[in-house]
Amino acid sequence: MGRLPLSYPCRRDPIGVALRPARPGDGPATHAVFHAAVHRGAAHLYTAAERAAWAPSPLPPADWEALLLAEITLIAEHRGHVAGFMTLGRDGHLDLAYVAPDKAGQGIGRVLHGAIVQAARGRGLNLLDTNASLVARPFLARMGWRQTARQSTIRNGVALTNFRMELMLGAGQTSK
Ligand SMILES: CC(C)(COP(=O)(O)OP(=O)(O)OC[C@H]1O[C@@H](n2cnc3c(N)ncnc32)[C@H](O)[C@@H]1OP(=O)(O)O)[C@@H](O)C(=O)NCCC(=O)NCCS
Repeated sequence: MGRLPLSYPCRRDPIGVALRPARPGDGPATHAVFHAAVHRGAAHLYTAAERAAWAPSPLPPADWEALLLAEITLIAEHRGHVAGFMTLGRDGHLDLAYVAPDKAGQGIGRVLHGAIVQAARGRGLNLLDTNASLVARPFLARMGWRQTARQSTIRNGVALTNFRMELMLGAGQTSK
């Protein structure tokens, strides 16, 4: 992306996670988090074949980092390592939301989500949408998102169940 104008403060939360915008060089570490989150973090809800279609290779595709930098991408670091990240398109589409499996359930997703919502508000977005996995659905529901449809998306020839969800950011709505 062009550099993300920080309309929110980079901050440290009580569990020692620092947030920052993505920068060149983040491709390999973010992809490693993505791959582990799919193959370990989602193993209880997606079959091996489904996970292989979702995240086929431990190595990032050639355009991975460029796509990351083209969007509003926030990185959560713990002890200098990428622990999770979220990307928001400039149209308000939450594209990627992944936390390393060994760091899941510790509030990192909540912190990333709060910062993404703040960034979205700063850009005047009123509505966010996403295609949430079976893993992300309860997390996003907890963050206030509403499910609008159940879907089946074909990825690398395999049908993956996910859910269309949206979050209104109208006046008076509180970000979680
Ligand atoms: C979904 C994901 C990003 C959530 O990140 P996380 O850091 O584990 O989430 P947090 O610990 O910040 O949880 C925030 C809140 O959501 C709730 N939550 C998270 N996952 C949940 C689940 N599976 N079921 C119910 N509640 C859940 C937590 O209990 C917490 O609520 P609380 O703060 O009121 O206690 C992460 O688990 C992940 O990467 N999963 C695997 C990959 C994946 O499917 N990514 C989404 C692709 S669309």
